[in-house]
This record gives sequence, structure tokens and C-alpha cells, in this order.
Amino acid sequence: MPTPNPYPLLVEIDQYIERLFVSQDMVLEQALSDAIEAGLPEIHVSPNEGKLLYLLAKLSGAKRVLEIGLLGGYSTIWLARAIGPEGKLVSLELDEKYVQVAGNNLERAGLRSLVDIRQGAAAATLEKMVKVGEESFDLVFIDADKNNYPVYLDYAVQLTHPGSLILADNVIRDGKVARSGETDPLVLGIQEFNRKLAANPKLEAILITVMREALDGLAIARVKD
Ligand code: SAH
Ligand code: DHB
Ligand code: MG
Repeated sequence: MPTPNPYPLLVEIDQYIERLFVSQDMVLEQALSDAIEAGLPEIHVSPNEGKLLYLLAKLSGAKRVLEIGLLGGYSTIWLARAIGPEGKLVSLELDEKYVQVAGNNLERAGLRSLVDIRQGAAAATLEKMVKVGEESFDLVFIDADKNNYPVYLDYAVQLTHPGSLILADNVIRDGKVARSGETDPLVLGIQEFNRKLAANPKLEAILITVMREALDGLAIARVKD
């Protein structure tokens, strides 16, 4: 039995915002249904968070985006739509099957040529990118394995420039991050990430809550001038 949602009012507000501000979109809906059919976990960003990512990318004028954690390409479609036809999005994904599913979804969205999918463990790919002097990114979206978030943050700082945005999903984890004594390594990883984000003298950052099945959050950081 699904556990009843402890935040009925927040769910109602989230649905209200979605009805008003996120239009029905066959490409995004098909991307989700294909991902479900292929057996991918339903852990993509919500429609409202997708719209928020899209707006943050547009507001910052991002043209080169790095995504860590592709899954079926749902957040990728939102971000790729924001960067325009001259933009480039590099997305990192461990799972070969997810790469296939996302590739098809991006193809159908007419965005495949903007997106460079690199399959493999993200930390190794990022290390390589730093080593070869990959051109820096205007926006990095961290959304892969939570225990490695602190590592991904270090690479994100190295692969960005003054004015770049660094975003990260799942930074609230139903409020568990706010409590001490948690033992779940995923929560511990996010807590360490949040501490590092707050303490990094190169960054100005904040966390905001984001609603989905439970309450979660998005980290928003800007690399200082
Ligand atoms: N950004 C997606 C959701 C990503 S879910 C969206 O909102 O639509 C997290 C993804 O990270 C999963 O697809 C998982 O396979 C991938 N992942 C987990 N560990 C990874 C690793 N070590 N390297 C690269 N990708 C990883
Ligand atoms: C989960 C949610 C996510 O958004 C994610 O990127 C990974 C895992 C989850 O709820 O398990
Ligand atoms: Mg996520």
C-alpha cells in the first residue's frame, strides 16, 4: 500500500502550479511513458522542477550545459530546449540501457544533435574531462548517485567559470538532511554536499524545497565573479 502523502496541501499547490504554468507536452509525456515501459525507475524531476531548470538555464543565458545523471532524458529535454539550437549539452550516464532509451526520447524531441551522451561512471568521465581541458560549462546539473555528490561538486567547480550555475537535485530528501544522526549513506552524501556547497568560497548558494512524492529540494549555486 502506498504511504499516504503527509503534505496534502503542498501536493495541491504543486498541482495548481503545474496546471497553470506547465503546458501539456506530448514529447515530454511520451518520454516518461517510454521510460516506464522500458522499466526505468520513476525518479525524473517533476514537471514543475523541469520548468524551473528550463527557466534557470534561460535566465542565465546558458549555452553549454553539463548534466550528471541522464536516466530517460526527461530533465535533459527541459534543459536542451532552453539552450537553443547553438547550444550543447553533455549528459553523463552509467547505465547502457538508459542511454538507449534517452537517445530515442531526445531523437523524438528533435534535440539529439544538441546532446552528447557519455556512458560510464560519471566520476571517471569527469576526471577525463578535466584532464583533457574540456571547454567550461555555463550550467551544471548534478542528479546522479547521491553518495558521490561531494565528488561531483569538486568537478563541477573545476569545469565552470565565473557566472556559471551549479544546480543539484534531491538535496532535501524529505527533510532527512536537516536531522543529525542519519545513517543512510545517501543522506550522508547529500549532507556533506550541502555543507561543502555552503562553505565553498568560490560559490554563492541556496537550497529551495521542491515537491514530489515527498518533499525534496534543489540546490542553486553561482560561481562568483
Ligand atoms: N536527471 C534525470 C534523473 C536522473 S536519475 C531526470 O530528472 O530526468 C539518476 C541517474 O544517475 C540514473 O539514471 C542512474 O543510472 C545514474 N547514475 C547512477 N550512478 C551513476 C554513476 N556513478 N555515473 C553516472 N550515472 C550514474
Ligand atoms: C531518487 C530520486 C531522484 O530524483 C534521483 O535523482 C535519484 C533517486 C529516489 O527518490 O530514489
Ligand atoms: Mg533527482
